[in-house]
Amino acid sequence: MRFENKVVIVTGGAKGIGLGCVEVFHDEGAKVIILDRDHRSAEEVAGGLNHKRRNSAAAYACDVGDLTQLSNTMALAINHFDRVDCLINNAGVHPPDTPIEKTNADEVVDLLKINFVSTYVASMAVIDSIKRTQGTIVNISSMTAVLGQKNSCAYAATKGAQLSFTKALALELAPFGVRVNAVLPSNVDTPLMRAWASSLADPQSALQRIAELQPLGRMASPREMGSICLFLATTDSSFITGQGIIADGGASLDY
Ligand SMILES: NC(=O)c1ccc[n+]([C@@H]2O[C@H](COP(=O)([O-])OP(=O)(O)OC[C@H]3O[C@@H](n4cnc5c(N)ncnc54)[C@H](O)[C@@H]3O)[C@@H](O)[C@H]2O)c1
Repeated sequence: MRFENKVVIVTGGAKGIGLGCVEVFHDEGAKVIILDRDHRSAEEVAGGLNHKRRNSAAAYACDVGDLTQLSNTMALAINHFDRVDCLINNAGVHPPDTPIEKTNADEVVDLLKINFVSTYVASMAVIDSIKRTQGTIVNISSMTAVLGQKNSCAYAATKGAQLSFTKALALELAPFGVRVNAVLPSNVDTPLMRAWASSLADPQSALQRIAELQPLGRMASPREMGSICLFLATTDSSFITGQGIIADGGASLDY
């Protein structure tokens, strides 16, 4: 029970990678707070966890792209169990493939708010609490932050911003014993991945092709990402800060 009597806040914790984090941390004894715009699914997840262990989970409705709403909800979340040991900035979206000339600036700004500024604002909100617990922040970035992605300029740029922010914040918080890291997944089998594939001409062969991009021959599961976050949130990784952990099943090898 590596997170017993500790509290984790997960944005976008109702589904996908966020849900994988929620499940892995809860299995290790954590109290879990989910912020998600899909309040119904978040409530269902929290209800199931409370059924397993009383008063061990809570859900808050929040669109992280609405920055005022995010700040207000973070204040409630921090007060809920009166401590925070880990914040996982996971909520994010991937728009359908779009060449740059077909995008518009308003869409880029909106995406930046959801995928990056939310990471900044939620981190700002926990600074005092996380200094008290000498906790950790984990940002779910993407391999596209360092590799780029065709027809996804805006998405890749938001993920790059998360990674740079991770490094700068790690420097700022290191004197307080607070560590900040990012996870850079390649392809994880989540509702987001399946929605993205379904926007392509042949979703099934697209998913097969995506699985084969990893030398391991498959996508990651959300729980595998949760396990990496748990590692980054415990003393198992006590000398690691400011890093982007590449979790890609070998996808970036053999170029
Ligand atoms: N799936 C992948 O292959 C992959 C790869 C690299 C990085 N990522 C990143 O991982 C994160 C999670 O992706 P996923 O695949 O699990 O997505 P998902 O769509 O399967 O799940 C995302 C969860 O976040 C919530 N969410 C989305 N936008 C939100 C918002 N504005 N406010 C509050 N909640 C919101 C959704 O309701 C959902 O519960 C994203 O930041 C994504 O960029 C995913």
